[in-house]
Amino acid sequence: MTGETVLALRGVSKRFGAVQALTDIELEVRAGEVLALVGDNGAGKSTLVKSIAGVHQPDEGTIEWQGRPVSVHRPQDAQQLGIATVYQDLALCDNLDVVGNLFLGREIRRFAVLDEVAMEKRSRSLLDTLSIRIPSVRIPVASLSGGQRQVVAIARALVGSPKVVMLDEPTAALGVEQTAQVLDLVERLRDQGLGVILISHNMADVMAVADTVAVLRLGRNNGVFDKRRTSQEEIISAITGATDNAVTRREARGTEGSP
Ligand SMILES: Nc1ncnc2c1ncn2[C@@H]1O[C@H](COP(=O)(O)OP(=O)(O)O)[C@@H](O)[C@H]1O
Ligand SMILES: [Mg+2]
Repeated sequence: MTGETVLALRGVSKRFGAVQALTDIELEVRAGEVLALVGDNGAGKSTLVKSIAGVHQPDEGTIEWQGRPVSVHRPQDAQQLGIATVYQDLALCDNLDVVGNLFLGREIRRFAVLDEVAMEKRSRSLLDTLSIRIPSVRIPVASLSGGQRQVVAIARALVGSPKVVMLDEPTAALGVEQTAQVLDLVERLRDQGLGVILISHNMADVMAVADTVAVLRLGRNNGVFDKRRTSQEEIISAITGATDNAVTRREARGTEGSP
């Protein structure tokens, strides 16, 4: 049950010196949808995420939020719109407990003093809503498993009640069981109506949770697929370049003939 388009990229390009990392990217993310963003190493996935997150400035193109062009100059702009990002290298503080990590940088204060009771309560209810089971919200994250740490990092992104959450390779460092835990959470986020952009090079993960699969190849779109109607082989062909879907996509959108 997918909803309206919340986030769209129109003709986004990004260059780093001599490297054209992204060229003319089109992307749409709907509420209640898991959009898997796939592609070979260097295809531009992380650059795309960072361009949406306000870390990088696109050289060309626009970002639309709920149908309107917006400017995202800094990460705070993206956060204020309702776009949350969990990066590949988790930025958790090992020595802080779960509550400390969830509220790092946006602590709840009462008369200028940290309101630990309120933060602990909010942490518990956030984790409950997401059916996340952590032994205690007062243990340092260093003592959690890799899967639990990833789940805490995702929960941290949800503190500000975003509408879109981007996960860059959330299962890359995880074993089978911990991966299942994270993918379960991804499905719950979708069921709660969020738009989820999931970057992964694990096709099993993609086939398990994605509704839509967008393929990037050498910084360009190479197909957007409805997972239910697409085989893993078709997606892999698009990733490797065995099939070239760029033209088909443009025709489907009726933009062929534009310069
Ligand atoms: N900060 C940067 N400076 C220069 N080149 C970069 C930077 N970030 C990414 N690139 C280059 O842009 C291309 C896309 O990289 P990236 O977005 O990390 O791909 P992916 O996440 O799909 O592996 C690569 O050629 C990479 O080397
Ligand atoms: Mg990457």
